Amino acid sequence: MANKQFDVVVIGGGPGGYVAAIRAAQLGLSTACIESESYADPKGEVRLGGTCLNVGCIPSKALLQSSELYEQASHSFVMHGISTTGVKMDVATMIKRKDNIVGQLTSGIKGLFKKNKVTLLPGHGKFIGQENDRWRIDVNGEVVEATHVVVATGSKARHLPGIPIDNKLICDNVGALSFDATPKRLGVIGAGVIGLELGSVWKRLGSEVTILEAMPDFLASADQAVAKEAWKTFTQKQGLNIQLGVKITKVETGKKGVSVEYEHGDETKTLQCDRLIVSVGRVPHTAGLGAENVGLELRPSGYINVDKNCRTNLPNVWAVGDVVPGPMLAHKSMEEGVMVAECIAGQKGHVNLDTVPWVIYTHPEIAWVGKTEQQLKNEGIEYRTGQIPFAANGRALGQGDTTGFVKMIACAKTDRILGVHIIGNNASELIAEAVVAMEFNASSEDIARICHAHPTLSEAMHEASLAVDKRALHF
Ligand code: FAD
Ligand code: NAI
Repeated sequence: MANKQFDVVVIGGGPGGYVAAIRAAQLGLSTACIESESYADPKGEVRLGGTCLNVGCIPSKALLQSSELYEQASHSFVMHGISTTGVKMDVATMIKRKDNIVGQLTSGIKGLFKKNKVTLLPGHGKFIGQENDRWRIDVNGEVVEATHVVVATGSKARHLPGIPIDNKLICDNVGALSFDATPKRLGVIGAGVIGLELGSVWKRLGSEVTILEAMPDFLASADQAVAKEAWKTFTQKQGLNIQLGVKITKVETGKKGVSVEYEHGDETKTLQCDRLIVSVGRVPHTAGLGAENVGLELRPSGYINVDKNCRTNLPNVWAVGDVVPGPMLAHKSMEEGVMVAECIAGQKGHVNLDTVPWVIYTHPEIAWVGKTEQQLKNEGIEYRTGQIPFAANGRALGQGDTTGFVKMIACAKTDRILGVHIIGNNASELIAEAVVAMEFNASSEDIARICHAHPTLSEAMHEASLAVDKRALHF
């Protein structure tokens, strides 16, 4: 029987892969997408959506929402005159709700595949060679052929030597999103995005949370003003115990849970906890892809080598998302997926890595786009800043949530916006205005001339733009 043939075969059904497949199909290309993982599908069927939908963005945000509501009901309602007693969290219900959202979204992608006529090929995809200008890929013993291949195999949690992950007591992101009860004492290794988001979830639900971070600086990639405010809020107001500059020396499990030995300055300390989350970054995933069979070039760091249009060293083989260099973010992966599909169809695709926003969904949320003050100083670029606290914003006061600020940085010579850094309620939504502004090369004066609805948190963005020119009206 002849092999199945497609114009485009995508390996990996995460945000990079499934979006590439849908866009390619929209553009009239016969398209298939190979996905191997069933994650925790109750029927054991392959699930689309990758890390993001199954064990990443979506489940973590569902838990953040539930735990934030619990926190508000327990502590914040009272300032509105609403008294609550006996507020309880049923962790099983919270996890079930999260699982339902994941199930709904992952099956939704299957529906989108049907609608767009993308063929789902369940199984593990592996390059086996090239024949007559067509790439040959093995999918669990069946060979499919493609003119173009998009590798979107994503990333896996980085594990540390000597710290075996069982996803029960010692968890990476997979186990950490499915705890069956609130641990009395939670240890986290790594004060990065996952450590802060999931540390916040369980802190709100009553865990004593200790986060052990190797670096001496907190949130080193964020603007220092934001990192300082976040540190104050998380450690002093919320009671997250974050230890910086530690070196983990031993991790052991026993009847009492997990014991983590670490060096902190001159001292050797032990953290005893009931569960441990290891969140020390992610690594590109190319295991079993058969890169060696076709000479697909990887960098020493494990990322697939690509040019700015995500072309690999092989003709008509492309790679997108976490498996290629750049921020490991779902929206960046999706943008690259679209770009590649459009390039394959002969169009001009583009992704601007300079305007990819970052969001940390703690409370307050943290979001930024563009350069930090530190980066601009290092690059010798002269700039002006405008910073407006949410305490000066009527909507934030009405919401009873005034932590944080909006900080805008503009070029001293041209006034072009170079970066926007927000810490505060709804920063994840507010940052979109800054992204649009930067994508269109807007100046702080452009934002200053835009009418922002009153009363909204977005007025803080407006005021920050005015503050760049030292003419804020309400601060
Ligand atoms: P993935 O989502 O990893 O998908 C790759 C898919 O390829 C997987 O399903 C895998 O099974 C499949 N695959 C791999 N090899 C093969 C093979 N050989 N054959 C067949 N299939 C294969 N990003 C955000 O932007 N916002 C967030 O809020 C956010 N929160 C996160 C929270 C957590 C806890 C984690 C872990 C990550 C989070 N991320 C977030 C990051 C985001 O999940 C990733 O950037 C995104 O999923 C990357 O998409 P991708 O398509 O490149 O890879
Ligand atoms: P991360 O890179 O954000 O943070 C890892 C932290 O662990 C760093 O601060 C690092 O210094 C520290 N670390 C590394 N080795 C260590 C060690 N041996 N001991 C102690 N600390 C150590 O990685 P994280 O949190 O695992 O998340 C992975 C990626 O997933 C993120 O970088 C991001 O790309 C994505 N993600 C995005 C989210 C979002 O957009 N809101 C949410 C969660 C994850």
